[in-house]
Amino acid sequence: MKITKICCIGAGYVGGPTMAVIAQKCPHIQVTVVDLNVDRINAWNDPNTDNIPIYEPGLSEIVAAARGRNLFFSTNVEKAIDEAQVIFISVNTPTKTYGKGKGMAADLKYIELCARQIAKIAKENKIVVEKSTLPVRTAEAIKSILDNTGNGVQFQILSNPEFLAEGTAVTDLLDPDRILIGGDTTPEGEKAINALVEVYSSWVEKDKILTTNVWSSELSKLTANAFLAQRISSINAMSELCEKTGADVNEVARAIGMDSRIGSKFLKSSVGFGGSCFQKDILNLVYIAKSYGLSEVADYWEQVIIMNDHQKRRFSNKIVQTLYNTVADKKITFLGWAFKKDTNDTRESAAIYVADDLINEQAKISVYDPKVSRSKILSDLDYLATRSSTENENLVQAFDDAYAACNNAHAVAILTEWDEFKTYDWKKIYDSMQKPAFVFDGRNILNKKEMEAIGFVYQGIGS
Ligand code: NAI
Repeated sequence: MKITKICCIGAGYVGGPTMAVIAQKCPHIQVTVVDLNVDRINAWNDPNTDNIPIYEPGLSEIVAAARGRNLFFSTNVEKAIDEAQVIFISVNTPTKTYGKGKGMAADLKYIELCARQIAKIAKENKIVVEKSTLPVRTAEAIKSILDNTGNGVQFQILSNPEFLAEGTAVTDLLDPDRILIGGDTTPEGEKAINALVEVYSSWVEKDKILTTNVWSSELSKLTANAFLAQRISSINAMSELCEKTGADVNEVARAIGMDSRIGSKFLKSSVGFGGSCFQKDILNLVYIAKSYGLSEVADYWEQVIIMNDHQKRRFSNKIVQTLYNTVADKKITFLGWAFKKDTNDTRESAAIYVADDLINEQAKISVYDPKVSRSKILSDLDYLATRSSTENENLVQAFDDAYAACNNAHAVAILTEWDEFKTYDWKKIYDSMQKPAFVFDGRNILNKKEMEAIGFVYQGIGS
């Protein structure tokens, strides 16, 4: 089967960039990305592609080239489903906030809605691709809904988890380490797998395209995120021990990273990981393990989250302790609010939790982030429901200029590793701050010796 029309439900951080790259690389395929969120779709269709809703280096150029040619963004979900041979489901799968599994299990209500809508509309056989990260065996539930509520047409369900990292989504999509496609081992299943392999092989070498059974594919995504997050929590655990013993976590990371069995990537100690995926996917893994009665497996992975929460709290405690055990009415400037550099995504960002702790201590927080607006910062804090929106509004300021944000501050805390922070005129910042001037580098991006030479009291992580 030759694919000529693809629909993707969900125009978010995964659906948008992934489909833009498919459209760029497969000019013979018409790709339509649909979403219920009208504002989001309008932003994707903004004549100026600098205003698309997701910031990723290189993305706006790809959208500019393909949009209107074979890439379309629309709110007409039904039409796009009806016309497509392949439907990607790329909707959000957040942690449940209610009922059984609250705070742990993945909330699959959006997935189920998609399945029911596809079943209702499809008048011809379709391939349905799980792009969202899902608990192992979700394909079974999707299949059951499609088969029991559909119009008697055949559905093949494939699992094709996305491994892109925000901030490098475009390069990850153009040159992926691997593409994973899971499907049924029946002849129809294999035909569907091959059709999707064909799409990716327009730009990805065949030996990087792995095909597996559906359950292995679903579980591989949760496993990958658990392993990645585990490395961060492991090095962060060592950072605390380094601070007590005079070891330097950067030196330790370098020394162990040169062991080819360990490898050097993902060994950077920090204020803790954020992002929409790591925590949610590990909690989901823990929930699945528990539901099978595997308490040791569940406890093992849960510790990754416990360590990460500890690291965030440790950072805010360190700020309070160093500032003579009180930050009440002190101006503390955050450089960075996004959960990592080169993205405007703030979901689960460490900055939110550190700010919340410091506001509880009555600090006044000023924020500068090159890609995050004040309204986003306030809505992130409001979401925690620690205090009223009015209080958050009174205690948090946002600036368009880093120097203005730091002016008169008692301390600067670096929460995101944006490259521009490294090249600031730190002497100028020092001169404008209260003395002693403190810098808490939650990403270890500045040079301790240079900062101390200027006059700062500098504290990084793990040294
Ligand atoms: P997102 O929240 O940015 O986007 C999801 C979109 O789906 C939203 O715009 C929402 O309005 C839309 N949506 C929800 N239900 C819908 C429905 N019934 N019909 C039409 N549109 C609907 O989420 P994001 O970050 O793109 O994540 C999507 C999935 O991909 C999640 O399962 C996530 O775990 C996974 N993932 C995310 C990665 C990331 O870096 N953000 C990386 C790899 C996987």
